Amino acid sequence: MLKKDLKVILETYGCQMNISDSETIIAIIQTAGYRFTKNIMEASIILINTCSIRENAEKKIFSRLQYFQSFKKKGYKFIIGLLGCMAQRMKETLIKEYYVDLVVGPGSYLMLPTLIELAINGEKTINTNLSYDELYRTIVSLKSQKTNIFRFVPIMSGCNNFCSYCIVPYTRGKEKSRDLKNIINEIQILKKIGCKEITLLGQNVNSFFNKKDSIYFHNLLELIALMVPDIRIRFTTSHPKDMSDKTLEIIAKYDNICKHIHLPVQSGSSKILRAMNRKYTREWYLQLISSIRNIIPEISISTDLLCGFPSETELDHQKTISLMREIKFDSAFTFKYSERPGTYAAKYLSDNIPEIIKIKRLNEIVDLQLRTSLLRNKEHIGKTTEILIEGFSKRSKENLFGRTSQNKLVFFKKNDQQYIGNKIMIKIEKASATALFGKSLI
Ligand code: 5AD
Ligand code: SF4
Repeated sequence: MLKKDLKVILETYGCQMNISDSETIIAIIQTAGYRFTKNIMEASIILINTCSIRENAEKKIFSRLQYFQSFKKKGYKFIIGLLGCMAQRMKETLIKEYYVDLVVGPGSYLMLPTLIELAINGEKTINTNLSYDELYRTIVSLKSQKTNIFRFVPIMSGCNNFCSYCIVPYTRGKEKSRDLKNIINEIQILKKIGCKEITLLGQNVNSFFNKKDSIYFHNLLELIALMVPDIRIRFTTSHPKDMSDKTLEIIAKYDNICKHIHLPVQSGSSKILRAMNRKYTREWYLQLISSIRNIIPEISISTDLLCGFPSETELDHQKTISLMREIKFDSAFTFKYSERPGTYAAKYLSDNIPEIIKIKRLNEIVDLQLRTSLLRNKEHIGKTTEILIEGFSKRSKENLFGRTSQNKLVFFKKNDQQYIGNKIMIKIEKASATALFGKSLI
């Protein structure tokens, strides 16, 4: 059978890095001659790009796996491959206990065509080698992304921080910065093909370092800002300990660097931060927020909050609440702790906060954040702000939406496709906790 007759379904779960990886995977597989489909009836290969960050993410993927396997039991002939973080974490177990045919970790995607062929020929196939250079991204990722307007550019991957709750250092391996030349080449091509917004991606973008030319993250940001003055630049994610004043000054200096920082704090209690191995205290983080706001007054700040970590008392939780009141984050991703096998916390700390308490604390955090986000968003009412238009609102084809430099979603009435990818000025009239609503001034 020709490869073009073998169709692939690819499903993606998890973070932006996984979405970006899937774009690379699509390009690799297409180059090898395979076609894609969404229809299970005509699929020969089902690939699931997985996430391990929380137990719930894995549960969802296991139920998806069961769903596909139920078709196999009915006689459908396809192979199932698990890619990404679960592949890296669970390795052979996925083959032995979950009857997966192909297991490929995030360092081995370049070998996918060969690995798929082995699996199709009936060999249970696994490759979770993390040592590969990620150079290949440049060669392939350019061909595959859905839109030319908004593009991810991976600049590093992996993490050396070993926060005690987190599986990422085990599934993504050590920090590796991408070659500077490849990043620059990719951005030059993006400029040519009409890209309007680039998000620099990495588990820890601020640790980017190019040894050969002694280029740090702030140097890279400046280089890109100067190279593509008409393209918006975003980056994610940053560890607070690596957010330098130099980086803040570069963000302040260039209009095309978006005025939004995602800065996961996790907890407001220094005792819990120490147990999490976050390498900063509550006071240090507060100080950092005040420097950020001094250097970039128009900045918006979002965060990640993680409650119910082992030994978190009500007092610790109230410290998180008071930190949130003090900082007033623009938005937050909120989580309750789930133990991840293999992490320091799973090995040495008891998951001793009852589920019901975790849920109660999470609800309190979510409630407060919704109220704060609403207040923050209401501050924009009456102001005029520039947005980059992303597309039609899912709810109504009469409305377009875009984002401000501060990463606020803005909806406005207009039903003209040709505006997508353009910047326009909007007068903000209304706000909810998650979005702004306004009138276009064109
Ligand atoms: N349980 C719950 N949330 C977690 N995160 C990371 N590991 C866990 C875990 N074991 C959250 C952190 C991190 C975000 C990406 O996911 O808040 O910043
Ligand atoms: Fe995980 Fe901490 Fe690394 Fe973020 S910095 S990926 S939370 S270990």
